[in-house]
Amino acid sequence: MSFDESVGKRLGIVTNLLQLDEQDTFFIFVNEAISRANLEVFVFDADDLSKDGCVMAKRIDGPITYEIREDLGERKVRVEIHDFDLVFLKKDPPIDASYEYLLKTLLQKKIPTVNHAAGVLGMGTKSYLENFPELTPKTFYSKTIKKTLESIKSIGNSMIKKSDSSGGKGVKHISYNSGNFYHYRYGKEISLSEEELSLIIKKYLEDSLDKTILIVEYLLSAPKRGDKRVVLLNGEILGSYIRLPDAKTGVCACADNGAKFCDPTKADYEIARVLRPHLKNHGICLAALDLLIGKDGTEYLSEINVFNPGFCNLDVVHPELNIKKKIIDMLCKKMLARGC
Ligand SMILES: Nc1ncnc2c1ncn2[C@@H]1O[C@H](COP(=O)(O)OP(=O)(O)O)[C@@H](O)[C@H]1O
Ligand SMILES: [Mg+2]
Repeated sequence: MSFDESVGKRLGIVTNLLQLDEQDTFFIFVNEAISRANLEVFVFDADDLSKDGCVMAKRIDGPITYEIREDLGERKVRVEIHDFDLVFLKKDPPIDASYEYLLKTLLQKKIPTVNHAAGVLGMGTKSYLENFPELTPKTFYSKTIKKTLESIKSIGNSMIKKSDSSGGKGVKHISYNSGNFYHYRYGKEISLSEEELSLIIKKYLEDSLDKTILIVEYLLSAPKRGDKRVVLLNGEILGSYIRLPDAKTGVCACADNGAKFCDPTKADYEIARVLRPHLKNHGICLAALDLLIGKDGTEYLSEINVFNPGFCNLDVVHPELNIKKKIIDMLCKKMLARGC
């Protein structure tokens, strides 16, 4: 779809330019968006919104790359937030005070967003996985240090997760064996006292939005296979691939350790079918699932990314999907549906 049929639409993209990594889909999406006729593209961050409902935004007039992202701040223009026809939220968690204010302002002023601001707030923490016990590895959801320690003891080999973490920053491999706790650094097992572990748990609990920590059964086959990323557009599978973990830590964090071709399977379609009504109810148009493999070959749901789902590598392994066209078409369709 071209955007010629519209008369001067304004797309606002919310992101933190300095926090973007080279792999962020931001760059391919922005470059596709500016190629559409009659579409003005602006970029701003949550703290660019002032109390009077205006944002100081960067108007993007030419192609941008990771290398020149820092130079984009020179020509900021003042735009009233309700003058955007659509705001594309592409900002990683956690939701800090300024992001919360932006989301609430967008909701209050009824500005169309992708994903829906209420959905980002509603499905944006890992605690939402509690709705799918049949799809996840064995998981406890805890709000106290005591329950977290008991859960680690009960699971034995576990991954503990701050509920609103991202990029591998709030996850830790912890095990319990013969009365002792251990954590892991570059594949080395290091013992951890109950007091040290309690401090880590306390910090995770205090820092997370819903004061929750997840204690998840550690899947030994997960780092060997890597994370399967399944990208969903309007609840349907757009494509999938495997993200390879860091060779030293076994964790798939932000860095690009390479991607492997892997088409969706029957099991992936079944997971998408279960999630679809939840995504629809929360207005989540764009989501990326992380699936980890168990030793019996079962695909387990490990994460539902709704903030800024990364899937640049889908473009690498499946260029024929033309993901940038599909995503910008989806945004344009929403702007036209608004009837302005
Ligand atoms: N249960 C698990 N067993 C083994 N490895 C895991 C498990 N859960 C997560 N991991 C590893 O940790 C990484 C980060 O976990 P994830 O829940 O996706 O959090 P984040 O939001 O930080 O991406 C995953 O990509 C995966 O490599
Ligand atoms: Mg993840």
